[in-house]
Amino acid sequence: MTTVTIIAGGHKIDSRLTGILQFTQEFLEQEKVAVHVIQVHQLPSDALITADFMNQGIIDARQKVEQSDGVIVLSPVFQASYSGIIKTFLDLLPQKSLRSKTVLPLMLGGSYAHLLVMDYALKPVLANLGATNILTGAYVTDNQITKQEDQTYLLDTDSETRITNQLEQLLGGMQ
Ligand SMILES: Cc1cc2nc3c(=O)[nH]c(=O)nc-3n(C[C@H](O)[C@H](O)[C@H](O)COP(=O)(O)O)c2cc1C
Repeated sequence: MTTVTIIAGGHKIDSRLTGILQFTQEFLEQEKVAVHVIQVHQLPSDALITADFMNQGIIDARQKVEQSDGVIVLSPVFQASYSGIIKTFLDLLPQKSLRSKTVLPLMLGGSYAHLLVMDYALKPVLANLGATNILTGAYVTDNQITKQEDQTYLLDTDSETRITNQLEQLLGGMQ
């Protein structure tokens, strides 16, 4: 079965980032893809901050990435870059661990002011991890995602279309 791991680098679950994650996960599961989610902020924080490669929680998360055909790196923009949270986990991946995987970057920002973060900050890190098949990615802004009363999130048409397009490319890239 095709497997995708989503590495989510937000600092809380109650976030529009979860809206992107839910939309992405539902799309892939409808396509019969097995989806693993790594919420980095829920991994052992001591291990992340001290780069403890031998921590069991980190090892388990790393294995999910290793066993995946595709990896989605989902991060908010924090201080004009990807989140430090997601970087603590990416730092613990083995050298070239994204080689032979299709990699999709997805980012959430407060505005389009930092749109280029994906190309200038995130993609070089993914390339350094061996990824050669990095998709264009999608950058979504806060005003495109609405939290609903039932705690789910509604994405506007533009963001849904752009993310769907990228997910279709992800599926194509993993074949
Ligand atoms: C500490 C922090 C720094 C942020 N820095 C930026 C930034 O530099 N550029 C930007 O577009 N958005 C920035 N944001 C906004 C986030 O990327 C994201 O859009 C927002 O946190 C989503 O809010 P929510 O999690 O409450 O839904 C920042 C948010 C936080 C919490």
